Amino acid sequence: MKKILVTGGLGYIGSHTVVELQKTGFEVVIIDDLSNSSKEVLSRITSITGIKPDFEEIDLKNKQAVEQFFKNYSIDGVIHFAASKAVGESVNEPLKYYENNITTLTYVLKEMIANKVANFIFSSSCTVYGQADELPITENAPTKPAESPYGATKKNG
Ligand SMILES: NC(=O)c1ccc[n+]([C@@H]2O[C@H](COP(=O)([O-])OP(=O)(O)OC[C@H]3O[C@@H](n4cnc5c(N)ncnc54)[C@H](O)[C@@H]3O)[C@@H](O)[C@H]2O)c1
Repeated sequence: MKKILVTGGLGYIGSHTVVELQKTGFEVVIIDDLSNSSKEVLSRITSITGIKPDFEEIDLKNKQAVEQFFKNYSIDGVIHFAASKAVGESVNEPLKYYENNITTLTYVLKEMIANKVANFIFSSSCTVYGQADELPITENAPTKPAESPYGATKKNG
């Protein structure tokens, strides 16, 4: 059975993704630091699918902890949701966003390369399209300058 690491897997989108992965037959391990979620979500996932996913409470800003995680687990792919995501807050606290969204991404990618994990899905954002010319925005729209530090972290990602 393929094992997928879902970072931010107790969050809004991540938890739904975990349910769908389990239903499709993937084994899931979640990393989440509970900064915007709660452990209660683990029980809710388990009650929906009947399978308790592995869970590691790790802050991805902790480089050593990320390294140790990849030593402990053999992973086939990563879906990376963990990030700070509030546009307004990112304007007031840009460094929090650069650190939590970009530094963490580099730690995850470095360990994936070191451990030869080739499959990666990044949760981006429509903020990478800036002020789009047409609505609704499609993936074919040209990217424009990001209008917030949050958008910039997704564009750089
Ligand atoms: N919700 C949306 O409408 C939307 C739209 C586009 C993109 N996204 C992106 O999708 C992803 C998930 O969004 P969401 O709405 O589910 O957000 P969310 O806040 O519900 O989930 C993010 C999860 O990541 C965890 N997390 C944050 N920083 C972490 C860290 N340093 N280490 C470990 N865990 C950490 C949080 O505790 C949370 O559980 C984000 O990357 C977000 O930017 C969301």
